[in-house]
Formats: sequence, C-alpha cells, structure tokens
Amino acid sequence: MCGIYGIVGDKAVEKTLQGIKKLEYRGYDSAGISFFNYEFKLSTDIPKYLKNISCFKNGLNIIREEGDISKLEKIINSLKPKSKLAIGHTRWATHGKPSIANSHPHHSENGDWVVVHNGIIENYIELKQELKGLKFYSETDSEIVAKMLSYNFDGDVLNTIKNVCSRLNGSYALAILYAKNPNKIYVAKSNSPCVVGYSKDIGIVCSDISSIEKIENLYVLPNQTIAEVSAGNINFFDYNLNKIELSKFSGFTIDSSEELGKYSHFMLKEINEIPTAIEKTVVDYNTIEKIRKSLPKKVIKNTKEILIIGCGTAYHAGLMGKRLLEEVCGIKTDVDIASEFRYKNYVPHKNTLAIFVSQSGETADTIKAVKLCKAYGLTTVAITNVKNSSICFEVDYCLYTNAGKEVAVASTKAYNCQVAMFYLMAAYFKAVSIDQDNLIFEEAKQLVDVAKQIKSNKINNICMDIAREIKDSKSLYMIGRTVDYYLSLEASLKLKEISYIHSEAYPAGELKHGTISLIDNDTFVFAFLTQKHLKDKTINNAVEVASRGGKVILFTNQKIENTNFYKIVNLPKLSEFYMPLLLVTYTQLIAYYTSVYLGNNPDKPRSLAKSVTVE
Ligand code: M6R
Repeated sequence: MCGIYGIVGDKAVEKTLQGIKKLEYRGYDSAGISFFNYEFKLSTDIPKYLKNISCFKNGLNIIREEGDISKLEKIINSLKPKSKLAIGHTRWATHGKPSIANSHPHHSENGDWVVVHNGIIENYIELKQELKGLKFYSETDSEIVAKMLSYNFDGDVLNTIKNVCSRLNGSYALAILYAKNPNKIYVAKSNSPCVVGYSKDIGIVCSDISSIEKIENLYVLPNQTIAEVSAGNINFFDYNLNKIELSKFSGFTIDSSEELGKYSHFMLKEINEIPTAIEKTVVDYNTIEKIRKSLPKKVIKNTKEILIIGCGTAYHAGLMGKRLLEEVCGIKTDVDIASEFRYKNYVPHKNTLAIFVSQSGETADTIKAVKLCKAYGLTTVAITNVKNSSICFEVDYCLYTNAGKEVAVASTKAYNCQVAMFYLMAAYFKAVSIDQDNLIFEEAKQLVDVAKQIKSNKINNICMDIAREIKDSKSLYMIGRTVDYYLSLEASLKLKEISYIHSEAYPAGELKHGTISLIDNDTFVFAFLTQKHLKDKTINNAVEVASRGGKVILFTNQKIENTNFYKIVNLPKLSEFYMPLLLVTYTQLIAYYTSVYLGNNPDKPRSLAKSVTVE
C-alpha cells in the first residue's frame, strides 16, 4: 500500500528514490518524487518526459510515473536532478485508477505546496466544494490537501497546516513541501503510521519504521502531531501548535533478510524459511518465564473468553487459534474479520481477552478493531511479526512472531508462525489452569520437532506436478471439516491471490447444500483430511464429488482404500494435532508453482498490497 519517504540533506533525490524502493514490498501501482531545485527547468532533454514532469518557477519539481519504480528511476537517472530536499511516494490506487495524474506528489495550482499522502481523506468531496473556482487534475482524495493549503494560506506555514488538518476526516500521514522554505519537510499524522528522524546533516521522514535508514534520532509520531523536519533538527507540535517533546525511539532494528539469495522469488524463499521461522518464534517464548514477561500470568488467569480478530491470512491463523484454545483449554473462543467486527453489535463479555493477529501490524481495520475493543474495556494482545509496528503502540501486550521480514505479498511463513504462537498460547492457558509451568517447554519442544519434519519433507516435485495439472482450471474447490476446513480457507486464498484462478473453500459437509451443482468433469477439488475422527464423513463428501466427475485430489494422513480419486497425496507421519502446520506448506507451494507456470509474478500479485493501511 502507499508509502512515503523524504530527505532533507545531500543527495536528497537519490536517497529518496532508494527509500521508496524499500517500500516496494508493500505493493503499489505508481510512484513519484518532488524535489527543490531552482535550476531544473524544462530543457531540451525533457520533452519526451513532458507528461511525467511538472516544473514550477518557485523551484519545486515533480516527476511521476505509472507502474514499476524502475520506470521512474530511468527518468531520474537520465535527468540527474540535484537537490537537498525531496519527498517520494509509492501509490496503491484507492481513489482513481493508476495513472500519472493520480500519482503523488500532488501540488497546488501555482505549485507552492506539494504533498504526498498515505491514508484516505473521507470528506474530500465535501471539501472540494468549498474550493470554489479551483480545477482538479486528478481523481484522488489527496490533491485536496495541496489545494487547501494554498487556498487557506495565511502567511504562517504551521498555522495553515494545522488549520487544514483540522478539517480532514479519515486517516493521513502527510509530507509537505512549501516552496519558500526549501530546507524543510513538514509532516502531519493522524491514524496512518509515520516516523521521522535526524542526525547532523540529514532529516528523514518515512511511513514505515522497518524501512527507514538507520539514524541517530528517531521518533514515532503520535496522532495529531505536526513535525518540522530539517537536516540536524526536528520540531514537534500538537494541533494547538504548542511545541512538544517526543521521546526518542530506541528499539531500532534493521532487518537484513531482504536478499533473494538462491531463490527465484521471495515467496519461494519464505516458504523454505518456514522451519527456521517456527524455531525462532518458539525459542523466544519457550519457557513460562519468557512468555509471562510479554503476557503476564494474571491476564491468563483472568480470562474467561477469547476473541480473535484479523484479516485475510491472519484471520485464518485466528481460526486455527480457536481450534487450539477450545480443544486444549476449553475456553470459548470467537474469531472475527476485523472489517466485519467493527460494524457489528458486539456484546462485550467481562474478562474477554481480545487477540489481534497481524503480520505487518499496520492493517487499518485490525488497528481500528483494537481501539474499539479497548473502548469496550477488553484486555488486548497483538500477535505481530513487525517490532514497533503501529499495533504494538495500541495494545496492552504484544507477542512477536520471529519469522523475519516477509517481502512477498502472499503471506506464508508468517502464517505458520502465527499458528505456532497459538499452540504456545494454548499451552500457556493450560499450564496456568492446571498449574504446570513445564507444559510450555514441552509444547515448544514439540513445535521444534514439527519444524524439523517440515524441513525434511521434500515436497517440491509433488507440488509442481499438481500445479501443472490445475494451472488451466477456471475454477477450483477446496473442502475439509473443522480444522481441515480452516486450512482449506487459507489454501484457497493463497491460490487465488497469486494464480488468479477462482477458488472457493467449503466445509465438506456443506457442499451438497448448493455448491456441488458447480462440480463437473473438469473441476478439481482438493479434499483435506487430517483428523481420524473425520475420516468417514470427509471421504463420503469427496466420493460425492468424484461421482459427479470432479477430479478429487485428496491430501491425507489416513489409509484410504477408495481409488476413485484423481490423486491421493499421502502426508507423512505426524501427530494429527500438528498436521495443519505441515499440510499448509503443500498448499503454499502449489499456489506458488501455479502462479509461476501461469507467468505471474507471485511476489507482487496484481491489485494487492502487503500492508493494507486503508479501511
Ligand atoms: O499484515 P496483516 O497480517 O494484518 O495482513 C492481513 C491481510 O491483509 C493479509 O494476510 C493478506 O490476506 C495476505 N495477502 C494474504 O496472503
């Protein structure tokens, strides 16, 4: 999703370009840079880029391009603009299609104000109507900010920014340039993440704490803060323009796991990292002493019910969590999709623990759900993969999966680690209820063994074969019961997001209540069966499909006599309790290879973003 990077200091354009490249993993469809350079004018070199470039007499310039950042980089490299002030943006279209006109940075009519924006200005149509006589060149909600700054300018830059921000509804992180102050980036933030930093000769703004370059003084902006960023100094103000002090952020870590190494795609690399990722996650919480530091025993003791909330894959991990917490500890557990939960009439129960699952820790709906649960008076815990992400500042307690940076848009290793965390949590609840602390250690040992099994299970060839068989399908179904159904939801999401093949997950017993009418001779159906007590029922459902011509590929650890199925994938010996952690790796690899065979880029599927920071 959208990303912001900006530099005050030497080589601002080059560094800003590098900065927005680090944000690429979030997903985007266009990119742009604005910089201050008085000399940079329409020269003979420029005409072929006329549609990409806006040069204003005041020294501000904007270069924008649709598509990959490499296209923007090509223009910049050919023009080599010099500057000590630049802001850049990667845009993931929300209001208006991907196009040069809709790309950021946006500017006021005379170009005195230039703005990049993350988030959504919800009242932009209403605000537009107030700006009588002004023409708008884009379909975005963001252009309004640049126009309003110019329209409402009262001679005082900070006061104007404050006044404009107080009119904006929705969420925003804004980086703003004002042409007459070519040494400063102004930043305003409300409900969209933003960090700023400085050292002797540089000032930086970035939307993503894990992508900012290492800097001496780093600050995470709270909501309703304005920052005036210069090289070597930052001033902070609240929305009454009182100067405020912020504490320096000290938990700075640089993630170096962004190299592809021997792999052709990040997704493949990340699937191969699953065993190590599980081990690293587990080792941080493998004793009662360690886990209770992050989540005190008294919270566990007080909990009577659990509510798990997430989106997409994180929601699917939450379903696995429900199964574990209910099966192991008998605690009633509800699971909800964050964007649904927010608009429901939730009846809060006393002593409910709300657990939020988010790989990125930046998902707007999940963070809004945290705020709602806090307003209900619930205790809140996040399971996230990104240290110091926005969610960590909202919840009461945070548990970190240690999967390492996940670059591919489709989540894989983070899912396995989230599920591993639920195994540990279930053991924690059990340990507290029967007063046996060593259960955590036992569980952690089991999980490390499962990780080893995943590592030794060589499944590339079988997954490639299946991918080759299904790649030309128009539509595909996945069925299972209870935990196998939860698994099928994740398997189906993974396949559709990167292969673009329509796929639906169904509870196996529900198929005959309607959807089975879609099964014909060409339809592949993945049937998942990992739990002994479900054998007869799930097999019956798979046979029903096969009898209607469906090509059933059965993934199972059970001994099956029926040979009517198109294919049976025999899963290795492993306790059925842990089977979902292993089985999901087959489905992740099948999705990956299907995407590759179809000529897609599995790391950057169309229309998707890594962190979904708009609601
Ligand atoms: O960062 P989060 O875990 O909060 O993200 C939630 C979903 O957006 C994410 O899992 C999404 O469904 C992935 N593309 C799935 O691969």
